[in-house]
Amino acid sequence: MDRLKDKVCIVTGSSGSIGRSAALRFAEEGALVVGCGMNALTSQETVELVRARGGQMVSLHPLDLTTMANCQALVDFAIKSFGRIDVLFNNAAMAHFNWIEDITEEEWRRNTREEVDLVFFLTKCAWPHLKTSGGTIVNTASLTGWRVFKTLGGLAHATAKMGIVGMTKQLAMEGREYGMRANSISPGVIETSQTQEQLKDKEWADYMLGKTLVGRLGKPEEVANVALFLASDESSFVTGIDIKVDGGMAVW
Ligand SMILES: NC(=O)c1ccc[n+]([C@@H]2O[C@H](COP(=O)([O-])OP(=O)(O)OC[C@H]3O[C@@H](n4cnc5c(N)ncnc54)[C@H](O)[C@@H]3O)[C@@H](O)[C@H]2O)c1
Repeated sequence: MDRLKDKVCIVTGSSGSIGRSAALRFAEEGALVVGCGMNALTSQETVELVRARGGQMVSLHPLDLTTMANCQALVDFAIKSFGRIDVLFNNAAMAHFNWIEDITEEEWRRNTREEVDLVFFLTKCAWPHLKTSGGTIVNTASLTGWRVFKTLGGLAHATAKMGIVGMTKQLAMEGREYGMRANSISPGVIETSQTQEQLKDKEWADYMLGKTLVGRLGKPEEVANVALFLASDESSFVTGIDIKVDGGMAVW
């Protein structure tokens, strides 16, 4: 129950599926959780759920992380609430899909803003505090990019998420002298609010399901458990890597 005891953990996108699971798991393991999300109602629901189970959590919402000013506000809120930052779980992002022949300049830039900029901005703002604590960064990439899928117009999404994999290695290198670690997670297809519409398309869902070795799609808590391992001291010799949480999709 104490795998993150007294560690101050920022979990972005705690109003969403994987973020909520992570907030609950981290708090169960003794973390002091700082959340945020675009949706005030569901963000506050996560806080209530964590507190109902005896955990400690505060949240700043609604908050759009695509500006440096808002990212700084979240960091200031974390410091004001708990005085330090030990873990930054950059989970929040919004994926958009389109094909090379149809994608517009604005759609391309939206993926960059909503999948890359927000990770860079928040990490930059939290960096001085992570240096002080010798903290840990867990970033969220995606299986898209490591693999491509004939049913997914993943051009901008793959580009953005592979950017996260590269950014993570660079952060691991730059943070090493302060005792920091940085790793990323690449989820496969997880049943979340971001995939629920696509999963209604039987052809799409069957194709994706057929590509997993375990014969089912993932659950948010299965990603949260890997984030917990990477956030905790159990992974103290693990840095600069990406872990695929994909039910074996990358194998074939
Ligand atoms: N669900 C999957 O199959 C899957 C696969 C690969 C990667 N991922 C990644 O997992 C992460 C979590 O996604 P999820 O499936 O739980 O989706 P979700 O839609 O349930 O949650 C996303 C969360 O991110 C927040 N968010 C999005 N854009 C934001 C912004 N600009 N500022 C602040 N918050 C913002 C939302 O408010 C929400 O809380 C994302 O990085 C996503 O790309 C998911």
